[in-house]
Amino acid sequence: MIVYLADEGRAHAIDYRERAPASAHRDMYIRDGKADTKASRRGGLAVGIPGEPAGLELAITQFGSLTLEEVTAPALQLATEGFPVEGHLAKQLEANTEALAADAELAAIFLREDGRPYREGDKLQRLHLADSLQKFAKKGSSPFYAGAIAEDIETAVRARGGTLTRSDLGSYKALQRPPLATGYGDWRLVTMPPPSSGGGTIAQVLSVLEPYDLGELGQNSSTYLHLLAESLKAAFSDRAKFYGDPDFVDVPLARLLSPGHAAAVRTRISSVRALPSAAYGNVDGGSDSGTTHISVVDKDGNAVACTTSVNTAFGSMVGVPNRGIVLNNTMDDFSIQPGVANAFGLVGNEANSVAAAKRPLSSMSPTIVLSKGQVRMVAGASGGPMIITSTLQTLLNVVEFEMSVEDAVTAPRIHHQWMPEMLAVEGGIPEPVRDSLTRRGHRLRPFSAIGSVQAVEVIGSSGGKRTVRAMSDPRKGGVAAAY
Ligand code: DON
Repeated sequence: MIVYLADEGRAHAIDYRERAPASAHRDMYIRDGKADTKASRRGGLAVGIPGEPAGLELAITQFGSLTLEEVTAPALQLATEGFPVEGHLAKQLEANTEALAADAELAAIFLREDGRPYREGDKLQRLHLADSLQKFAKKGSSPFYAGAIAEDIETAVRARGGTLTRSDLGSYKALQRPPLATGYGDWRLVTMPPPSSGGGTIAQVLSVLEPYDLGELGQNSSTYLHLLAESLKAAFSDRAKFYGDPDFVDVPLARLLSPGHAAAVRTRISSVRALPSAAYGNVDGGSDSGTTHISVVDKDGNAVACTTSVNTAFGSMVGVPNRGIVLNNTMDDFSIQPGVANAFGLVGNEANSVAAAKRPLSSMSPTIVLSKGQVRMVAGASGGPMIITSTLQTLLNVVEFEMSVEDAVTAPRIHHQWMPEMLAVEGGIPEPVRDSLTRRGHRLRPFSAIGSVQAVEVIGSSGGKRTVRAMSDPRKGGVAAAY
């Protein structure tokens, strides 16, 4: 989460990324020399120590103006009274019925009595979750890390083959880190530092693209998309090699973000041909379902960009009995064996290997853009590695191509993550542009949706009044709201 405080004129980053349990080790997912990718994705061994209650409590108590109780109230009301299942959730319930049915708590939450998933428009109540939220409202995060809920989390994880303990939970702390700051033209971006790769990768791509006159090339022109794809390949190859938990590895950010590094990448990029990924250093879209991003601007000019995730749809598929809690499978964000792709096709090596108490690398990219000391834009996304590319393209659409935030979020996108060697392309990219990219040597693969972005743009402020426009990505059926 990135929080910008208008009074201070300063941004803060809160790292409440999950952490590996003390029992975790480098080869914990290797069976007979081979990576067991199922074990890092489903069941107890996939679960990292959850960070969300600690992170939200830190954000609210440190930077908020409302009490825990006030902030929790709307969620508590929805959980207690129920809410209509919307289309995206209905689709995911349908696609995951079997796995949900295998876990008693998840089945009780998401499946009807006849074992069928709730459908679009059905009312879903979360009474167990309401009870847990009630505790959060009264006592903050402590019941989740010590006491009865912590015990229940340990029991649920152990029953599904995991090794996470109460003492892992007891040792968890959300951290404040200096945000990663970078410039692009007259704009200043404050975004997420490691253990997310999101901010760094966005900053690397921007530093490569900055000298080009992208405005002249045109939004989604084939030359712009070619340069973007090549810069992404270079940045994602650095991501695979260098990025990891900064408490464990030295991420050479100063070098990766230096003008010299950007210039070296630009020298390598050919303006006419796509180079093989090997010239810079397997994407499956994965399921864009375990993550949510919100972007907020308030009346005083404060802003929050917050991405939160259980990783893939319904996380580890482990529910905590009677608590309404769905446990993450964030351990799959580690590189479980060098070169072995995770659920999103991402590869990595030692920098992001598993270790006790280490945080797995993330792609989450909550970003606040400042101009002349004021918040100009807030953005972020869900979609695994596509978080990085969809956030980046939305920012460029506004900053460089001067699109409205509505058009910027809606416009068709591309994605490249270095490995596998393919350029994901949404259907809305016009055929002549796709043909031109193919002629340049890109291997195109059609994708129905690349990431899901929520963004706010501050158009102007005068006489203490701000004009704010907001857009929630139609790809995931979200809505913008004002209070
Ligand atoms: O932290 C990460 O990069 C992933 N756990 C994000 C996963 C994700 O966005 C899933 N989709 N919505």
